[in-house]
Amino acid sequence: MKTHKIAVISGDGIGPEVIKEGIKILKKLSPSMQSKLDFIEYDLGASQYLRTKEAMPQSVFQEVVSSDAIFLGAVGDPRVPPGILEREVLLKLRFDLDLYINLRPCILYEGVYTPIKQKTSQDISFYVVRENTESVYAGMGGFFKKGTPDEVAVQEDINTRKGVERCIRYAFDFCQKRGYKNALTLVDKANVLTYAHNLWRRAFEEVSKEYPKVKTNAMYVDAVGMDFVRRPEIFDVLVTNNIFGDILTDLGAIISGGLGFAASANINAGEQPSKYSCHALFEPVHGSAPDIAGKGLANPLAAILAGKMLLQFLGEESPAERIDHAVRKAIQSGKIFKPESSDTQISTSAIGDLVFSFL
Ligand code: IPM
Ligand code: MN
Repeated sequence: MKTHKIAVISGDGIGPEVIKEGIKILKKLSPSMQSKLDFIEYDLGASQYLRTKEAMPQSVFQEVVSSDAIFLGAVGDPRVPPGILEREVLLKLRFDLDLYINLRPCILYEGVYTPIKQKTSQDISFYVVRENTESVYAGMGGFFKKGTPDEVAVQEDINTRKGVERCIRYAFDFCQKRGYKNALTLVDKANVLTYAHNLWRRAFEEVSKEYPKVKTNAMYVDAVGMDFVRRPEIFDVLVTNNIFGDILTDLGAIISGGLGFAASANINAGEQPSKYSCHALFEPVHGSAPDIAGKGLANPLAAILAGKMLLQFLGEESPAERIDHAVRKAIQSGKIFKPESSDTQISTSAIGDLVFSFL
């Protein structure tokens, strides 16, 4: 039996609470899996940084990247200036492992509240494929005359033909495999970013020829923001750059059950494998939420569903489906959410136990 090494980075804030529930579910399913999961916990994030001024020491990085996949809670802590933990842990892993896809489902499960009136689970069911290693996240830029009244700050939007094309190809593939509406939307701002998004449009057009069964369209990002609210039912799979994907998927999360529900997969899909054995990182989208940390208030469904995506990545389709089924049953029990709200009414561990009971 194959053993998969899973590096666990519970991280900061509510990270540890929600990851604990995710692992509880994954461990329960282990007898029904074709492989064995070996969880190895790494203490990374704010406490590590405050002790050593290094959020992820090189030796630990080497161990983490020799795993088969990473399960991450959240990084971010008010005691550390913004950007440090994000850059030294999460973005470092995304970049160094070349996890060029960030796959984010925005799926409203039956019985889950959406703030959009008259829309139901029939209407909100789409995936955003977010490019995950380029755009303004590449960190290219600098200051000129910093600190003076004439200061200039430049931050470059990087779009490489290779980076864009592999992301688009993944999105076509994913859309075809999903087999839902067979419709892929390119989200850009080609009317203003006339170089960068001209490249995206040409790459999209060319790759589309390899997928004659997938219907395509291109929309401007501002219009997509509007249509997430006005008519989310038109979407199946969307593909976009890193920064637009970041912003749109928070909006996507709120219409499909809240941040407590949003899971994500960061994947190197193998066209240009990185030099490390680890090709994927799974995380809830919500972040560390320090204001509610340690109180049992966090919703662990996002972490549990990130665990589902982890199993899918490892080829454990049927236990992954069992998680999905158990989450649906737990929601239908009516015990998790307050009426007409995506706020929860039972504790983090009680939600984990409820899902567990339906496995
Ligand atoms: C996300 C987060 C990160 C991002 C932050 C924490 C760097 O907002 O995963 O969406 O901007 O990508
Ligand atoms: Mn974000």
